[in-house]
Amino acid sequence: MNLIDGKAISHRINAATRETVAGLKQNGVVPGLAVVLVGDNPASMAYVRNKDRTSQEFGFHSEKIELPKDTPQDELLRIVHQLNRDPSIHGILVQSPLPPQIDERSIVLALDPAKDVDGFHPVNVGKLAMGDPTALVPCTPLGCQRLLLESGIETEGAHVVVLGRSMLVGRPLAFLLMQKGKGGDATVTIAHSKTRNLPSVTRSADILIAAIGRPHFVRGEQVREGAVVIDVGINRVDDHTTSKGYKLVGDVAFDEVAPKARAITPVPGGVGPMTIAMLMANTVKACRQSVESRQ
Ligand SMILES: NC(=O)c1ccc[n+]([C@@H]2O[C@H](COP(=O)([O-])OP(=O)(O)OC[C@H]3O[C@@H](n4cnc5c(N)ncnc54)[C@H](OP(=O)(O)O)[C@@H]3O)[C@@H](O)[C@H]2O)c1
Repeated sequence: MNLIDGKAISHRINAATRETVAGLKQNGVVPGLAVVLVGDNPASMAYVRNKDRTSQEFGFHSEKIELPKDTPQDELLRIVHQLNRDPSIHGILVQSPLPPQIDERSIVLALDPAKDVDGFHPVNVGKLAMGDPTALVPCTPLGCQRLLLESGIETEGAHVVVLGRSMLVGRPLAFLLMQKGKGGDATVTIAHSKTRNLPSVTRSADILIAAIGRPHFVRGEQVREGAVVIDVGINRVDDHTTSKGYKLVGDVAFDEVAPKARAITPVPGGVGPMTIAMLMANTVKACRQSVESRQ
């Protein structure tokens, strides 16, 4: 079994992104990322802090906008429009979940698709579906594809089973892996909560990607000997032996599956570090595309 080290791979990708940033700066261009947080959800606050800190470490122009949880939708829309017009900002990320008075869809639709570094705007979803290379693609699926590429795992002709059909992970991942070319050309099956006879579907996978949000859902007997397993899940389970009283586990029962797998990602340290690396890479991509569109 080969452990796919997302931390080490993300460090390599980050080094390449930093080099691109240095090149842009030599030409007087500084990538700019704005992260907007509404409310005080502790997990969201931690994510936003991490994204803001990382973008500063990358030498980006970084803006963190924190709004009270009773912020009206109109006010958030006004801020999004302002960021859309701001030439120093190339990427805008509005952290979800948003409080109930705000319609998340309206906020996504209000984003300039060229600055939508989360890749949620329908223009980017459409571009991804069409295989348009200018698409801004959601960071976690992009990170999964890069993990496979960087680990030398061939997707061409492989049967990939993606467990989960969310707009955040499962669907965009399926589009990426079925695209023509390197990192794609896979035969993709998407499975979800209504899939019949799930174990036989997962056992048919050369590459199994679990993104369902259920701790240790994928058991040893559901995985074919020699399969590659990517675990996207991040689930908190009680563990009173830790100082926090919980630990993070994936959607895959690692101890059962790892001995059968050709390669597998751990949780934490697999897909997680790739997500933030891809956010930085997407911001640089948005910045470069903005410069190119003005030339
Ligand atoms: N590593 C990272 O950076 C990162 C980033 C994003 C998400 N995540 C993690 O990835 C996991 C999935 O996130 P998400 O946002 O995609 O979740 P989500 O929106 O809740 O979607 C879960 C998907 O899993 C399917 N599902 C649920 N229970 C199932 C079952 N028993 N059998 C088969 N399919 C089942 C659901 O099917 P239906 O559509 O039929 O309901 C749905 O399509 C979570 O643990 C999340 O924390 C990690």
